[in-house]
Amino acid sequence: MNILVIGSGGREYSIGLALRKDKNVKKIYFNPGNGKSDEIGININIKKYEEMADFVQNNNIDLTIVGPEVPLSEGIVDIFQKIGLAIFGPSKNAARLEGSKVFMKNFLKKYNIPTAKYIETSETCKANDFIDKLNTPIVVKADGLCAGKGVIIASTKKEAKEASLHMLNGESFGDAGKKIIIEEFLNGYELSVFAICDGENYKILPAAQDHKRLLDGDKGPNTGGMGAYAPTPLINQELYKKIEQRIVEPTLKGMKEMGSAYQGVLFMGIMVVDNEPMVLEYNVRFGDPECEVLMPLLKTPASELFYKAATNKLNELNIEFYDKYAVAVVMASENYPYKSSKPSEIIIDTIIDENIKNNTHISYAGVSKIDEKLFATGGRVLLCVGIGNNIKNARELAYGLCGQVHFAGKQFRKDIAYQALKALA
Ligand code: AMP
Ligand code: GLY
Repeated sequence: MNILVIGSGGREYSIGLALRKDKNVKKIYFNPGNGKSDEIGININIKKYEEMADFVQNNNIDLTIVGPEVPLSEGIVDIFQKIGLAIFGPSKNAARLEGSKVFMKNFLKKYNIPTAKYIETSETCKANDFIDKLNTPIVVKADGLCAGKGVIIASTKKEAKEASLHMLNGESFGDAGKKIIIEEFLNGYELSVFAICDGENYKILPAAQDHKRLLDGDKGPNTGGMGAYAPTPLINQELYKKIEQRIVEPTLKGMKEMGSAYQGVLFMGIMVVDNEPMVLEYNVRFGDPECEVLMPLLKTPASELFYKAATNKLNELNIEFYDKYAVAVVMASENYPYKSSKPSEIIIDTIIDENIKNNTHISYAGVSKIDEKLFATGGRVLLCVGIGNNIKNARELAYGLCGQVHFAGKQFRKDIAYQALKALA
């Protein structure tokens, strides 16, 4: 099988690694990929979706896997499917689950799926009235895609009112903030739960945890994610069952009823409050860095999983995972997440420790090759991934690898998976 992966991050690289060890896969293309993906596949650079579809047809590509949300929200799947190409990801209409928070919250309400109490509004006075009724902290969200920055957790009512005003008048996020959601703050712990869907059937993946804040102890600004691990001990069979029955199944049923049967990966950001799962958000693609810990645990050939999902045949698939744990630590550049940093050369020591050598790998993200040397050129540069028999062991391996990777200004959290270790202690 020949496969095209769309995207350029660590998420897409990790999908590439899973495809690379799958014997059914011949050629892997990345569009656009990064400075390392050309070593496990072929990088191409095509911007228009119609031209990507031509490339797929001309190069006998059997399946396209879409990594990021923007092409999905712009309708790449509709363009490919119209001419009969197999593509993994939801349609433009189905991608509204992520593309519009107003659509998402109204969908949750309509199908009785547990979520925080909220109002949707485009008027400041309505926003202020609702803010006055809530206890602090208060959550204010812009409707549209804001690259992960559109959520403000306000600790005072004054701050919540200011945040809504600046969103509504377009100052904060332009058109993406012309409609907003104001909602109650949920106090609990977060899980990232993924379901691979084919429109009809679904398969749940082991639950993961992300670490969104820049600094140890969940301090500092929000980022795209500074590290992840899976499976997490913060879930049990009972909670999985609640998530499937109260969230996954009504979501898929609702989407089908609305004429947008969901195909692709459904990412549920869950807050567990007193043992009850509530939906914070949906994303219509894999989480990054969650994907980087899930792909190495997948025992089922990756091509089979993605192809069967894209062609409505998931019921034929028996999904299997290794009985192992994965921890991924993101190494970011100096000024992340505030602004870009000067490119700096990446040097990786020769790894002598057999345990680290055999049970870790790097998932490359914001890297570029300049004169055959590898440079850190993005915000999140690479992820050190450790695979072990338990979380503690996987984490030690991941941090062991971190110690062997060098570039000027590198920053990374030292406490990835701390919630798991605390729960297990
Ligand atoms: P979202 O993009 O909606 O997932 O929001 C980003 C982050 O903000 C989430 O991962 C949570 O950490 C936090 N968050 C969002 N909504 C709430 C809420 N209602 N209560 C508490 N935290 C929230
Ligand atoms: N890791 C969170 C995200 O991809 O949005």
